[in-house]
Amino acid sequence: MQIKKAVFEISNSDVSKCPKERIPEYAFIGRSNVGKSSLINMLTNNRKLAKTSGTPGKTQLINHFKINDNWFLVDLPGYGYARVSKKIKRTFQSFIKNYFLQREQLICSFVLIDSRHEPQRIDVDFMQFLGENQIPFCIIFTKSDKLTPTVLKRNIAAYKEKLLTDSWDIFPEYFVTSSTSKDGKESVLDFIHKVNEDLKNN
Ligand code: GTP
Ligand code: MG
Repeated sequence: MQIKKAVFEISNSDVSKCPKERIPEYAFIGRSNVGKSSLINMLTNNRKLAKTSGTPGKTQLINHFKINDNWFLVDLPGYGYARVSKKIKRTFQSFIKNYFLQREQLICSFVLIDSRHEPQRIDVDFMQFLGENQIPFCIIFTKSDKLTPTVLKRNIAAYKEKLLTDSWDIFPEYFVTSSTSKDGKESVLDFIHKVNEDLKNN
């Protein structure tokens, strides 16, 4: 699938103020600095669509982008960002959680994991939260350009083992991406396209 049109729609911190349109929606979530906004820009071929930064905490709101006039990509703030005040951190967490719990248009979420790191508690906990609430998700291992294929493979295997021994019966569908080399672009877009087609046909 090609993204021909990507338009910013609205930003807010309140799920009740998100767009009312009943079109499929896909959200990107993960720790601050993992590369959520960069990935959205890579997928849409637009370096300026979502705001990115080397400093964590750049995205602070729920941002809707309408794609090809018929579905949404959603950029979210990172969870677990330690350098903001405790109060702001709590606010992030409650509106992010509310978004996931209440957004009926949300078809699938992508939990982004920095492929360089070993499994982190906060990510595993967030996937647990999604699972407990029957919110479908895939994993995206980001920044694959930063490590060799061997280390990448080893890190993904470690992740699988962690989730499978923790509490999951199956490892979720996953993708490996790099916003600099554009690795994984086709796979993610084809997945979304397929889900959109399935929705249309059912
Ligand atoms: P918050 O909005 O703060 O939660 O962060 P984010 O998850 O949206 O991360 P963002 O896209 O702003 O990227 C954070 C930093 O990582 C930036 O300096 C990006 O240039 C860099 N980055 C993101 N993706 C990649 C990637 O695939 N490869 C490399 N090498 N750097 C990346
Ligand atoms: Mg961001």
